This record gives sequence, structure tokens and C-alpha cells, in this order.
Amino acid sequence: STGYTTLDPGFVNTASTKSAITYIDGANGILRYRGYPIEQLAQKSTFIEVSYLLIYGELPTAAQLEDFTNRIRRHTMLHEDLKRFFDGFPRNAHPMPVLSSAVNALSAYYQDSLDPDDADQVELSTIRLLAKLPTIAAYAYKKSVGQPFLYPDNSLNLVENFLRMTFGFPAEPYELDPEIVKALDMLLILHADHEQNCSTSTVRLVGSSDANLFTSISGGINALWGPLHGGANQAVLEMLDRIVAEGGDSADFLRRVKNKEDGVKLMGFGHRVYKNYDPRAAIVKDTAHTILEKLGGGDQLLDIAMGLEEAALADDYFVERKLYPNVDFYTGLIYRAMGFPTRMFTVLFAMGRLPGWIAHWREMHEDPTTKIGRPRQIYTGYTERDYNDIERR
Ligand code: SDX
Repeated sequence: STGYTTLDPGFVNTASTKSAITYIDGANGILRYRGYPIEQLAQKSTFIEVSYLLIYGELPTAAQLEDFTNRIRRHTMLHEDLKRFFDGFPRNAHPMPVLSSAVNALSAYYQDSLDPDDADQVELSTIRLLAKLPTIAAYAYKKSVGQPFLYPDNSLNLVENFLRMTFGFPAEPYELDPEIVKALDMLLILHADHEQNCSTSTVRLVGSSDANLFTSISGGINALWGPLHGGANQAVLEMLDRIVAEGGDSADFLRRVKNKEDGVKLMGFGHRVYKNYDPRAAIVKDTAHTILEKLGGGDQLLDIAMGLEEAALADDYFVERKLYPNVDFYTGLIYRAMGFPTRMFTVLFAMGRLPGWIAHWREMHEDPTTKIGRPRQIYTGYTERDYNDIERR
């Protein structure tokens, strides 16, 4: 039998930590970055400005934003040897392990910016990550489709550069669509931080050992890949495609979810913290209509998604369990309409979440009282017992 040990009085829930970066009120559907409501930032700010806000704590002046933008511009290229890194991956590799491997490899190429106690090195690794992740993400996509890599064009902003490196070709100029750039920029803002979620807690825990920023972020990318977390946006599209393939009967699908048949979940629904509508989902839903009307494609899937949402919000099973659409429910529809394959959706989530991960890692080093301590456990194993020789087992 197993004996339970009582919790020693020193047991503290080390899983929850202090932070001044993001505030979430799950019951009332509130999300604020450094005090600014997500609705205002999504409407008025840009992803690079929000990245500055999350990392340095204040909205930048025009001069600060220009300096930040220029410092990032100078680091968008990868080391030529790191580019060859992609040759080693199979073409059908999912881009998330490619992303986390390449980001971790930055620790090997940029050994002059690994010391978490050196402010200049922390700043340099921050800028290098913000600049290079979009390039690595675009190359992961190009590798998967067997097309040539494009060098960054630093006359473009971060999002424009990423779209051009992803969908452009060396042989012809790439036509940027301002509406697509703006929609993707806004989606990256919505994903930029979210308090102590699974991947951010992973970044903090890895970083709490004084592991460098590159390797800590690589850990966060791996955690994000899980379908219950960042992988959900891919899982939502796979769910919608499955409903279409099985005849498009949403009611039957919801019945199977409620019966918990073979682990079927309503992906993109539910949240560990939001027990009300995820404020990001409301913003994304509006954008989905605009973009899908503009780009077409996905209308049937959007109709099914809206049908599922309407039925679930009126169904006691979901209402009683406080299951509402989260940020992942609609984002995949937009990414798909933009031309991204389903497997790139979580890569886009990682691109958005990067400034938040960096902000949390830096906060932990700037204020050690915000460090996630060594988690303790409630031991439920055997009490002490003596070794018995194999002859007597
Ligand atoms: C993200 O933490 C963050 O902030 C994450 C994130 C971020 O920005 O970083 O917001 C991003 O990860 C959003 C979540 C994306 N994941 C999904 O959409 C996957 C589907 N969702 C579920 O896996 C689930 O809702 C969770 C994991 C997100 C949250 O689970 P909870 O709130 O802890 O609920 P639970 O697992 O304890 O389940 C409670 C009940 C159970 O039913 P009963 O056992 O009571 O009968 O609700 C059911 C669950 O079976 N349930 C679902 C469901 N989610 C929970 N049933 C059907 N479909 C679902 N999606």
C-alpha cells in the first residue's frame, strides 16, 4: 500500500509567482499588457511597439521605437552555417521542432550573448531573437515546400519581412497586401503575452537555472507545440476539416464531444483561466470575417465554426463547464486564408509570444523574487521498506 506523507508546514505553492507584465481577469474576460487593455493595443498599436512595451515596461517614444526597430533590423540575417542547419531536416518535418532546434542553436553561434547576468549580453540576445525568429520561421516553411530561402529585406518592417521571406520568390518581386500585414500584425499582438501559461512558465523554469535566453525560449517553443496549448490552432482546423469530411454535421460532432467519444474535444474551446469569453477570441472573430470576405476560402469552415460556437454557447454541457471560445478558435481560419499551411499556425503563435517570453525571462533576472522556485510535490508513494533479494520477489 502507499502511505501519504503530510504536507510539511514549509510547503508553499511555488507554481504561482509574482509578475508586473500581464494582468488577466478570467471571470470578467480582461487582458492587459503593462496595464493597457488588449482591445486598445490591438486597435491602435503595432506588434513591434507592443514588444517594446512588454519587454521594457513602457510604450516607447518615437525616438525609442526607431532605435529599437533599427537595432532589430541589423540582426535579421542568420549565420550562413546556421542556414545549412535546415538541410539536415527531412522535408516533411513539422516546423515547430525545426524552430526550437534552430533557436536553441543560436546558443552555439552567438556565444557572446549568453550571460544572463550581463545586461549588455541580455539586450543583445533579446534583439537577436526578435530579429531572427521571423527569419527562422520563414526558412522552416520554405524548407517544408522545397523552395529557395530569401534573405531579409531590411527596408521592410518585421511583419512585412516575414511575409516576403515566407511567400516571396527570388525570381520576382513580392506584392505586400497592407490589409494582410495589418491583420497579421494584430494577431501577433493578441498572442504577445498571457501571464503564466504553460510555455511562459517553461521559459521561466528553464531560465531560473541561469540557462541562457536562447535555450530558455527553445524550451518554451517545445511546450507551446502541445495541442492543449499553442498547438490548438492547428487542431481547430483539423477538427473543422474532419467535420466537413464526415458530412458537415456539427450537431453530431458536439454530441460526440459531450459523450467524450474517443477523447474528442471541441478544440479552441475552454481555458484554464478564462471562465468567460477570451477577449482575444472576440477580437479575432471580427477580423476573421473581414479577412475571409477579402480573401475568400474557408467560408464553409467559418460557417461551421460559427455554427459550433452558437450551438455550444447555448448548450448546458459547455455553459456549466464554463467552456467558451479561446484565442485559438478563429485564428487558424485567418492564417489558412492568408496562405499558411496548418502546420505553420503554431509557429505564428510562437512568433507572437516571443516578446512575452523574453519579458518574463528578463523580469525573473531583474527581480529574483519573481522566480518560479523549485516546485515541491505531495508524495504519494511507498513509505520506507527494506530491500528484498531477487530470490524472494
Ligand atoms: C491556449 O494558459 C493560457 O493562457 C494558454 C493560452 C495562452 O495564450 O498562452 O491562452 C493559449 O493554450 C488556449 C487553450 C488552447 N487549447 C485548446 O483549445 C484545447 C481544448 N481545450 C481543452 O483542452 C481545455 O479546455 C483546456 C486544457 C484549455 C483547459 O482545461 P480546463 O479548464 O483545465 O478544464 P478541464 O480540463 O479541467 O476540464 C473541465 C471539464 C472536463 O469535463 P468533466 O470531466 O467535468 O466532465 O471540461 C471539459 C473536460 O472534459 N472540457 C472540454 C474541453 N475543455 C474542457 N470538453 C470539450 N471540449 C473542450 N475543449
